[in-house]
Amino acid sequence: MAAADNPVPDLGGRARACADRLRVADRVLLASHIDADGLTSAAVASSALARAGIDHEVVFEKQLDAESIAGIAAREFEVVLFTDFGSGQLDVIADHESRGDFVPVVADHHQPADPDTEFHLNPLLEGIDGASELSGAGASYVLARALEGSDGDNRDLAGLAVVGAVGDMQDGGGGLVGANEAIVADGVAAGVLEERTDLDLYGRQTRPLPKLLEYASDVRIPGISNDEAGAIGFLRDLDVDVKRDGEWRRWVDLDGEERRTLVSALMQRAVASGVPADRIETLVGTSYTLLDEEPGTELRDVSEFSTLLNATARYERADVGLVVCLGDRDAALAEARRLLRNHRRNLSEGLQWVKTEGVTHEEHLQWFDAGSRIRETIVGIVAGMAAGSPAVDRSKPVIAFAEKGDTELKVSSRGTERLVRQGLDLSAVMREASRSVGGDGGGHDVAAGATIPVGERDAFLATADELVGDQLS
Ligand code: C5P
Ligand code: C5P
Ligand code: C5P
Ligand code: ZN
Repeated sequence: MAAADNPVPDLGGRARACADRLRVADRVLLASHIDADGLTSAAVASSALARAGIDHEVVFEKQLDAESIAGIAAREFEVVLFTDFGSGQLDVIADHESRGDFVPVVADHHQPADPDTEFHLNPLLEGIDGASELSGAGASYVLARALEGSDGDNRDLAGLAVVGAVGDMQDGGGGLVGANEAIVADGVAAGVLEERTDLDLYGRQTRPLPKLLEYASDVRIPGISNDEAGAIGFLRDLDVDVKRDGEWRRWVDLDGEERRTLVSALMQRAVASGVPADRIETLVGTSYTLLDEEPGTELRDVSEFSTLLNATARYERADVGLVVCLGDRDAALAEARRLLRNHRRNLSEGLQWVKTEGVTHEEHLQWFDAGSRIRETIVGIVAGMAAGSPAVDRSKPVIAFAEKGDTELKVSSRGTERLVRQGLDLSAVMREASRSVGGDGGGHDVAAGATIPVGERDAFLATADELVGDQLS
């Protein structure tokens, strides 16, 4: 395949080199990250390897560090394909490579560490933003397109790549941009994906209308948001059948005319309640729908799909999420839905805890330490939700801590696009501040994480505060 045929031409050469190495591999170990993007990365790559007749196994890691990489090396596979991580750990990976433990192939979007490696597919190496223009699943998709075989071009995998990008929050109000847009175009052309302008509230497929409105937190509409009776009253006053056979309908159950009526009434109410115009605009955004999935399920909407996947992978059940992605799913889907109820409860309790306890302010950042109250695998999601809520000052990054076993602390950090434009790079902050106290970290400019020894929190914070101050000065 010519490089130019790849949906992301700038990565075509790297994709081809990685694909060629995988094709001649004896056996491949595919290692991926435990979140929605990592799961979809693994599903895309595993499907493409299987279709190309390449023998492989899949493993998931919470975090790629010296210990987990040593465990991977001990499996004695000739080639290890890392997806949605690997770039940030190239220093450790290179040691194994030079000892002949395995040949690494990396499809990732995190900030690369030194030294570089031969088979490395990462948007940041070609001037494409890894936080907003291509996800791990997107990088895997670019690789999958280069692996295409006689039985198809793998464009049907574009839907999973979009789930990964949205799971990593790469979609702004106007939808996906950059390299992600080329993947969307592939999915639309292949007939698996629909892109449209729609009401931009979480839960369009599965939430009954009152819950859709009540739980919407990004735009606060007084008398509707966080107000069950208010949301029900608003719906009853509409000239729309909001119930059928005594049951609340969902957004997906409404026809075009009914949807327009609801959106315009919602906007009028927002205007009348004094919601600023730039917030009201965000009630409408770009939606991505997976056309092969059943309407009214979590799998139909990419945003709900990604939450479902986090609900499995972040609770040590990545196996369940992978089966859901791969399509052979009856029992797995029931289990994933059970995990989703638990995940939602944890997110809402975690966010409530942060709102009640509040954050502590340093000069250049704000932080909270959840101890054992928030699971370390979801403290980053809670930090992100808190950063988007009125509980938090948007002019400073948020740093969150949670216990990780008896000896370590998990750190998660989240910033805003605006702070990144002013020079914030949380990936560098997390890496340098954690290394200064004997830990390690990395990630993206706008969202990054680390692990540090317990007891080093305050020393870590002092260094991080100084680094953020330097970046923003
Ligand atoms: O490991 P990974 O790359 O998948 O994680 C990305 C994280 O960054 C996600 O938790 C996502 O919510 C966060 N993020 C964010 N704001 C952005 C982009 C990503 O909080 N603009
Ligand atoms: O769990 P996940 O990281 O996919 O969540 C992405 C976003 O979706 C959250 O930041 C939150 O705003 C929204 N969400 C929600 N209700 C849920 C789960 C997620 O509104 N139950
Ligand atoms: O764990 P959390 O959601 O805070 O992670 C934010 C981003 O930082 C993710 O992209 C994650 O892969 C990355 N990260 C990292 N090294 C760590 C922890 C997180 O690169 N030790
Ligand atoms: Zn990712």
